[in-house]
Amino acid sequence: MEILHTAASLQAHAESCRRAGQRIALVPTMGALHEGHLQLVRAAAAACDVVIVSIFVNPTQFNNAEDFRLYPRLPEADTALLIPAGCTALFLPSVEEMYPQPALLRFDFGALERVMEGAHRPGHFNGVATIVSKLFHLSRPHQAYFGQKDWQQVSIIRQLVADLSFDIELVSFPTVREPDGLAMSSRNRRLSAEARAVAPRLYQALELAAGLVQAGQVPPAAVQEAATTYIQAEPLFRLEYFEVVDAHTLQPITEWQPSQQVALCLAAFLGDVRLIDNVVLPAR
Ligand code: PAJ
Repeated sequence: MEILHTAASLQAHAESCRRAGQRIALVPTMGALHEGHLQLVRAAAAACDVVIVSIFVNPTQFNNAEDFRLYPRLPEADTALLIPAGCTALFLPSVEEMYPQPALLRFDFGALERVMEGAHRPGHFNGVATIVSKLFHLSRPHQAYFGQKDWQQVSIIRQLVADLSFDIELVSFPTVREPDGLAMSSRNRRLSAEARAVAPRLYQALELAAGLVQAGQVPPAAVQEAATTYIQAEPLFRLEYFEVVDAHTLQPITEWQPSQQVALCLAAFLGDVRLIDNVVLPAR
């Protein structure tokens, strides 16, 4: 596995692979890798000749300086995990390498970012779109892999690819969970034992809500209410939002419509750790 630290070396490596006729996959990450990340890498390795994984804790997408400072950084452990997963090149740049000067360009994804993560983390998707655009330009992959754990992020990146005519196939991968249902996340490492014990309640709330949506007997607001009550019954949680949205427009659903695809999305703090999760239901 090649380890690349500079933008120029990533560009040169990807360019020579492309010229040799190899298919290139990109898997962007912020490291502290877990099985969710590794499944993306394995899927990429099954589909492409070259798998470039980036590990970069991107400062411009953090709206909270403390969250950025405390974000786990484990480059040695990550490197050891990537080799057997099929990664062929690891891109590990510094902040100065990715931002030799502050980016002035600002992305605005309209209604897609006025809800949920975009509404609660001002500037977050601008930072995500900036770094993902840089990585796309430097590596010019045939495919790029993203997890549905970040459903809104996938929607934003799909829009980015369309709006800027990136010739890249997006592959979105289902959420990988712990045996008790908790969605895998680099931030789970920061949960206290007490917080970790109650964390699966978030997925239980999603399942409870999914059951209510599928039964079709109650309106969207009652689904939201039932899930909120279930989470808040555990006082360790501070629920930021629980939304019943259209899976494609991400706008809140006020009335059920035929053949609509529903996504249930939440964010909650457990102590100072902020977790997100979602389920996307089949069209009814
Ligand atoms: P990060 O949180 O490290 O996630 C990297 C990729 O792994 C994302 O596409 C994310 O959706 C996916 N992922 C995380 N947990 C997952 C899980 N439990 N199951 C399946 N996929 C999972 O998302 C980011 O980094 C950043 O915003 C990034 C896109 C790298 C831009 O900085």
